[in-house]
Amino acid sequence: MDRYAVFGHPIAHSKSPLIHSWFAEQTGQSLSYEAILAPKDGFAESWQAFVAAGGKGGNVTVPFKEQAFALASQLSDRARLAGAVNTLYIDNSGVLCGDNTDGLGLVADLRRLAVPLANANVLVLGAGGAARGVVGPLVAAGAARVHLANRTASKAEQIAALFPQQVSASGYQEIPVEPWHLVINATSSGLTAERPLLDQVHLKHALLAYDMLYGKDPTAFMTWCAEQHVRCADGLGMLVGQAAEAFAIWRGVKPAVEPVLARLRQELGL
Ligand code: ATR
Repeated sequence: MDRYAVFGHPIAHSKSPLIHSWFAEQTGQSLSYEAILAPKDGFAESWQAFVAAGGKGGNVTVPFKEQAFALASQLSDRARLAGAVNTLYIDNSGVLCGDNTDGLGLVADLRRLAVPLANANVLVLGAGGAARGVVGPLVAAGAARVHLANRTASKAEQIAALFPQQVSASGYQEIPVEPWHLVINATSSGLTAERPLLDQVHLKHALLAYDMLYGKDPTAFMTWCAEQHVRCADGLGMLVGQAAEAFAIWRGVKPAVEPVLARLRQELGL
């Protein structure tokens, strides 16, 4: 049976084994998928041991996406632009390839939520790995403009420089007052029950406020957006969406996201 795994630290909380086992069941594929706790400074060794034991492919989560990027011999354009790898596989010639499906997962989830991306003005909050991973796919999906806002403006400016035509950047106070159709929280503020200090004027035209995090309770950002009567979504659909894209890379068959997302919400009580 072909073996796959997700590597992270910590990893016990990961929903990926559940999601991939449901994808396998749905598509009639025979495979195993496990969670591997790699030592913080030992991702490469952990991956190599897995491959030596017959591992075919892997997902990579916090804090190893940059280490996986460094390890891969061949990178997709998406991975290169993201500066991070969340999906590893070995191609027919034995080359270790790195891809990044996070942005595709977000775009697929926004489509599921029926948010038009073509010609949209998108405001992305944050400039860490999560933000960097989604900018390219948002531009590729037809966004007219993406503006990155971050507490540390210089980090947002560095990402924007990769997309000089479509992406701009600033601190929160300097966000241009324009109709932002979609506001995406790619910061980790939800982990500490905080929210980015965004002025509410930027929500005025928002069709959706999306938080890339998910959890039992809405994040502080989602709660605040709901108070401004803006439709909100959490990142669980993105999680399932990025997994579906990884599964398709490995197995050549794309599973349906909706039934797995519904089952996961039920299972987690979300
Ligand atoms: P990730 O890989 O999840 O993106 P990261 O690289 O550590 O994690 O980046 C965290 C992001 O969340 C950064 O953009 C950070 O802003 P700074 O670069 O200014 O530090 C942002 N962030 C974290 N907590 C925040 C908060 N309470 N308010 C606003 N932004 C926050």
